[in-house]
Amino acid sequence: MTADSSWIKKVVVAGAGQMGSGIAQVFAQSGYEVILSDITDELAQAGKAKIEKDLTRLVSKGKITEERKKEILDRITPTTDLENFAKDADLLVEAIIEKMEIKKEFFKRVDGILPERAILASNTSSLSITEMASVTSRPEKFLGAHFFNPPPVMKLIEFIKGYQTSQETLETMIDLGKKLGKTTVIAVEAPGFIVNRLLMPFLNEAYFALQEGVATPEDIDTAIKLGLNHPMGPLELSDFIGLDTILYVAEYLFTELGEDKYRPCPLLRKMVRAGKLGRKTGEGFYKYK
Ligand SMILES: NC(=O)c1ccc[n+]([C@@H]2O[C@H](COP(=O)([O-])OP(=O)(O)OC[C@H]3O[C@@H](n4cnc5c(N)ncnc54)[C@H](O)[C@@H]3O)[C@@H](O)[C@H]2O)c1
Repeated sequence: MTADSSWIKKVVVAGAGQMGSGIAQVFAQSGYEVILSDITDELAQAGKAKIEKDLTRLVSKGKITEERKKEILDRITPTTDLENFAKDADLLVEAIIEKMEIKKEFFKRVDGILPERAILASNTSSLSITEMASVTSRPEKFLGAHFFNPPPVMKLIEFIKGYQTSQETLETMIDLGKKLGKTTVIAVEAPGFIVNRLLMPFLNEAYFALQEGVATPEDIDTAIKLGLNHPMGPLELSDFIGLDTILYVAEYLFTELGEDKYRPCPLLRKMVRAGKLGRKTGEGFYKYK
């Protein structure tokens, strides 16, 4: 399975938040020209500033040179002006807010800006690729490209095939994934794709174990780390991801798949209602300074 992706040179990354800035960094490090967009200039520039901070850390650790840092940053243009900057782009990767209506409105707009040849990709964690593709004139050139957090460090990209995604589009993106130094897997559209489909019931079971008093949070995490060789325990990992995000994805799996095994644990709901969302609020299963 191969298709040449070398015609892809200019990439728009939409949404300069946690994921978008990391995805922009991945492309710029591999030599692509990157347009990093957000809803305000300040947000787009803050996304580039985050990349600069990360690269500065790599320079201070001796992993890259100052020249390499400059070369990577020079390839990234932060902007809000997609009408001008995206009209000759070859690929767009969307990493904006996880709301279907907003994503659809966004794709409808950019479909009218990017050239016909361009591929459109969404970094959604859970939403339907087919539904987003349906508002564009090119559903065969539309797919999911699910990066993991933080994108410059995590090796995997899950590509998601929507109902109308063409084989050529998939193969082109697999080739591009290799050029980014990533390992890629393909899933047909289904709730949670591969990783979240398996991860959510695993995390949820850890909450049930805690709720039932099977063990302390520390012992649950230690058991999984040492017993299964996981780098993080499920509760520690949940605090890192954010309990609100987990509940959102868990609810989605439960609603879409309709089976009891996906029912979110009541403890998770209670913690989200109490605002104990993990690291970002200073407390989740553990307390943070
Ligand atoms: N956080 C994760 O671990 C993770 C992992 C994989 C996938 N995702 C997915 O990536 C996407 C982004 O998540 P995030 O964590 O980076 O969120 P985030 O809140 O950090 O960033 C989202 C950014 O999108 C911007 N934005 C909103 N509407 C926009 C629009 N119309 N045009 C341009 N920019 C717009 C926001 O201003 C914000 O800067 C979501 O779909 C999420 O599900 C997140």
